[in-house]
Amino acid sequence: MDIRLDAIIKKYKRDKREFTVLDNINVTLPQGKFTVISGDSGVGKSTLLNIVAGLSKPTEGKVYYGEKEITSLGDEELAELRTDFMGVMTQNCELIPYLTLIENLKLAYDISGKSEKNKNSSSNNNSSSDGNGKEPLAEELASFSAELLDALGLSQLRNEYPSSLSSGEIKRAAIARTLITKPDLIIMDEPTANLDRKNVRAVLQLLKRFSTQGSTVIISSHEQEAIAEADFKYELEHTT
Ligand SMILES: Nc1ncnc2c1ncn2[C@@H]1O[C@H](COP(=O)(O)OP(=O)(O)OP(=O)(O)O)[C@@H](O)[C@H]1O
Ligand SMILES: [Mg+2]
Repeated sequence: MDIRLDAIIKKYKRDKREFTVLDNINVTLPQGKFTVISGDSGVGKSTLLNIVAGLSKPTEGKVYYGEKEITSLGDEELAELRTDFMGVMTQNCELIPYLTLIENLKLAYDISGKSEKNKNSSSNNNSSSDGNGKEPLAEELASFSAELLDALGLSQLRNEYPSSLSSGEIKRAAIARTLITKPDLIIMDEPTANLDRKNVRAVLQLLKRFSTQGSTVIISSHEQEAIAEADFKYELEHTT
């Protein structure tokens, strides 16, 4: 389903004065496409993505996922929506410090709605399964996490803790963690920032692959290479 932003306005307050960051944004972000939201630093890209992801409410206006209006949903309903079919990575992506990289991926998978659905279907297929950790679910997770880590050049680091990773490695690990559930809707704030050319390309290729396989991918970036790869581009400009 398409994502439609209808007359979105976002105002913030600073020093008791209100200012408008997003001023009447009307745009449809197409389903199954790779959308890049660009614009200068401070223009409102993160603000917009957080509103699209339901992490923050607009001052005015509505966000629709298909026919469903999500701006008026409560926290619980939004959380359910997120675990069921979204993968969201905010700009200050953080891993859980006391888990290794691979454990971070596994946890994201375990708490997702996808994991619950797979568990139900695998227990239907195999009634003798009693949670010994060797079910098809675990195998699928293992093979897909290996594939993701390989695509992002992180295979050697799978058993490392975040404290021993570089910031670029943490960013790529956070990308892998977001993708491990194969979300239908992927929203990532600056996934290619502070990465070298090779890794920028690897991340873009991976995100393009998800979109060609049917996921709706929405990222922010001011990277020319990312903008060039976009199926749909949306540039934010400063309000006057
Ligand atoms: N919670 C907040 N309260 C007040 N002002 C905010 C808040 N969050 C963001 N702003 C301001 O709103 C503007 C837009 O911020 P935002 O983070 O959306 O920009 P951005 O385009 O993502 O920038 P960057 O490229 O640097 O990440 C900035 O001027 C910022 O200082
Ligand atoms: Mg930002």
